[in-house]
Amino acid sequence: MDTPPLREVIQGEALAWLDEHPAEPGSSVITSLPDISELPELGFEGWRSWFIAAAERVLRWLPDDGVAIFYQSDIRWQNVWIDKAHLVHSAVDNAGHELVFHKIVCRSAPGTISWGRASYSHLLCAARAALAGSRKPGPDVLPDAGAMPWSRAMGVEACRLACSFLRDNTSTRRVVDPFCGKGTALAVANTYGFDALGVERSGRRCRAARKLIIDAASTGRP
Ligand SMILES: C[S@@+](CC[C@H](N)C(=O)[O-])C[C@H]1O[C@@H](n2cnc3c(N)ncnc32)[C@H](O)[C@@H]1O
Repeated sequence: MDTPPLREVIQGEALAWLDEHPAEPGSSVITSLPDISELPELGFEGWRSWFIAAAERVLRWLPDDGVAIFYQSDIRWQNVWIDKAHLVHSAVDNAGHELVFHKIVCRSAPGTISWGRASYSHLLCAARAALAGSRKPGPDVLPDAGAMPWSRAMGVEACRLACSFLRDNTSTRRVVDPFCGKGTALAVANTYGFDALGVERSGRRCRAARKLIIDAASTGRP
């Protein structure tokens, strides 16, 4: 009988955890770095620098066979548009990594007017080097992010797209989310048979992340 995939959730600081735990082969990252609204103590410029450095730290942590997939939503900050894909691209360039894909995930139907956070998110994948072999292309635009277990969650369909990519194009066995929140990426990864490890600074969210179950059958996994 197959053993069920593991899920481990550690309460701690993400970048310290990455420093203390070198990546094992077969590890890939699916994550969503915190917005400035979650780190107001840094101020805007401090958060922007922190974001790029944190994404770079995640990229440098990857094993040779791993990829990192970032799910990030643009915001308006004092009437300035903050393009988080640009921040991730900056980290990719700083690390000397390669961009594997950049997809758009609709959080609302195209045409919807949004006054705050963008109505789409970016899904960006990067690796140390271009992936070998030809790949079955997935959609460039995902029309529906899917259910969100809480307000800052990744959409379940976006997580499924990320996990399908890992399954079809990499040798990933374990998905790591160093900013795991309530564990959406971890729960979806488990439905694909990947072990999952999350780090999260909030104890309450850690407890939610240990318990979150997403039913693979009801979401019609590809
Ligand atoms: C955008 S949310 C992640 C949401 C998650 N993908 C989900 O679907 O539930 C970012 C998370 O990072 C956590 N966080 C912020 N700074 C952190 C740090 N330095 N180390 C670990 N977690 C942190 C926040 O508490 C928040 O839960």
